[in-house]
Amino acid sequence: MPLAEGQLLGGILGPLFGLLRIQGIVYCTPNGNIGVNGTATPAFPNALVQLRCGGTVISTATTNGSGVFSILLDPLNFILSTLLSGCRLAVNTPLASCNAALPSVGGLVSNLQFIGNTFAGLLNVGNLIPSGFLFNASVNN
Ligand SMILES: *[C@@H]1O[C@H](CO)[C@@H](O)[C@H](O)[C@H]1NC(C)=O
Ligand SMILES: *[C@@H]1O[C@H](CO)[C@@H](O)[C@H](O)[C@H]1NC(C)=O
Repeated sequence: MPLAEGQLLGGILGPLFGLLRIQGIVYCTPNGNIGVNGTATPAFPNALVQLRCGGTVISTATTNGSGVFSILLDPLNFILSTLLSGCRLAVNTPLASCNAALPSVGGLVSNLQFIGNTFAGLLNVGNLIPSGFLFNASVNN
């Protein structure tokens, strides 16, 4: 179906298909966030990122060579307000695996932040990002 037709239908019928997308970048720094050197900050590749809600692992993703991860969720099963209030991201892979000078125990945690919807035809994507990682020594427990 051409995009314009899809947009028209979507406008009349409301969003027929939806998706929630959590996407972010994990950096190889003591707190997982971008450092003073900006885009020259080394990324954290092959890091296991978990979406945890109330202590339960709901979904996982692995960062690619640029530290980028992406988790897609069906909004029929997840309510945005619950994701924002009751879920967080946890990076279990020790920071030492990207830089031996960083801790070999613990990991990173971040709450989620909603940054808006993007539309592609009938697909309505709700975009979330990590609000900011923090080092957490007991993330593996
Ligand atoms: C920033 O870049 C400089 C020059 O390459 C380097 O010496 C320094 O260690 C870097 N700082 C951080 C926090 O990565
Ligand atoms: C990682 O994923 C991002 C987003 O899809 C992409 O832009 C980037 O090129 C990827 N990096 C590598 C090294 O594959």
